[in-house]
Amino acid sequence: MSITNNGQWQSRKDAAFARGQGNLAPVFIDHAANAEMWDVDGNRYIDFGSGIAVCSTGHTNPKVTAAVQEQLQRFSHTCVMVTPYSSAVELAEKLNELAPGSTPKKTIFVTTGAEAVENCVKIARAHTGRRGVIAFNGGFHGRTMLAMGLTGKITPYKNLFGPFPAEIYHAPYPVEYHGVSVEDSLKALEMLFKVDIAPSDVAAIIVEPVQGEGGFYPAPNEFMQALRTMCDEHGIVLIADEIQTGFGRTGKFFCSEYAGVEPDLITVAKGVAGGFPLSAVVGKADIMDAPLPGGLGGTYAGSPIACTAALAVLDLIAEENLVERAGKIGSLFAARLSELQGLYPGAIGDIRADRGAMIAMELVKNGDADQPDPDLTTALVTLAYQRGLVLLSCGVRGNVIRFLPALTISDELINEGLNIVMGCFEEVLK
Ligand SMILES: Cc1ncc(COP(=O)(O)O)c(C=O)c1O
Repeated sequence: MSITNNGQWQSRKDAAFARGQGNLAPVFIDHAANAEMWDVDGNRYIDFGSGIAVCSTGHTNPKVTAAVQEQLQRFSHTCVMVTPYSSAVELAEKLNELAPGSTPKKTIFVTTGAEAVENCVKIARAHTGRRGVIAFNGGFHGRTMLAMGLTGKITPYKNLFGPFPAEIYHAPYPVEYHGVSVEDSLKALEMLFKVDIAPSDVAAIIVEPVQGEGGFYPAPNEFMQALRTMCDEHGIVLIADEIQTGFGRTGKFFCSEYAGVEPDLITVAKGVAGGFPLSAVVGKADIMDAPLPGGLGGTYAGSPIACTAALAVLDLIAEENLVERAGKIGSLFAARLSELQGLYPGAIGDIRADRGAMIAMELVKNGDADQPDPDLTTALVTLAYQRGLVLLSCGVRGNVIRFLPALTISDELINEGLNIVMGCFEEVLK
């Protein structure tokens, strides 16, 4: 008997998949277009998650699909480290141009975000000859061993998986809403240099310009600038992990531009290739060239299908002014969410909507930042998908709803989705 129903697929998945790879909703997608998806039961969903910030140019964007189909007719894989191809070179050239700052840049391609992070650490260590890496509390850098070690959030990412690689240190990330100022973070870093590792032993500091999984907290500009100064002073490589913030999502092409900072290395993944697996490290040429030939790469690194998709994504970003559109999406969400906060001031503690289409609301009890409400968060996310809206949560405290719509979404769909959010609040808090 053929199975067509979400519930039956979920049972089969539960039996076939290890529980560690869970899913947010028992919704099995049949097809999708731009910011809408339809499941195997024929239900329609507005997608405010974009497959976790990946499909920024929308699902099955006709231009991306056409570029990929044309590439598939020619070849699907040769390995960029064996017999390369023009799409990878063109894409590297474009990324080198787009990366912030005037220092000449070079690029390498890999496949996942975690791999890009790991390669940054390898490059920084090869360049400096040093061992230490500093990351931040609440940061998320991936699920491989080194990336997980850098991640500053235990549940669910680090539970049961230790020991972690050595020479990783965590410092507080500045979040005013939770009482950690820029000054507090910088003081903690200075203290770390006194008690844990000398700055002359530190290869790199890795920072997300907006913490993603950690709760959508933008790094204040003065913090990014202070990190730049600190790294310059001590010869430390500054890595901006722009896997979630990159490729136009925040209203700048790279989020580091808000602070006017030129990172030494930048990670790129997610939104780069319209849903095809691709990641990259883009960085200052002299640092990028530190590892020996063959020291960086991977079998599927820079897949020709993904590189072709990424070139189409870049064209779309330019043709449709999607960087600017991200800013407008942020303003639209900000206005509607402030209205909602006016109705539920005790539940919506904070709204963060000044980094384009990377928007969040933090849910609390009694309007108190120190009383997170993860149960309300889960209830809203669950009711939302039951009413046809895919919402994602995040946050060290599990109490943040994040909005990551496609940059090609229409105002009408945004409003329709936010009406569902309003209805869910009414229902859950009645
Ligand atoms: C900032 C950041 N770094 C790294 C990663 C890991 O990327 P991947 O899941 O592709 O390995 C993510 C994924 O969410 C991320 O948001």
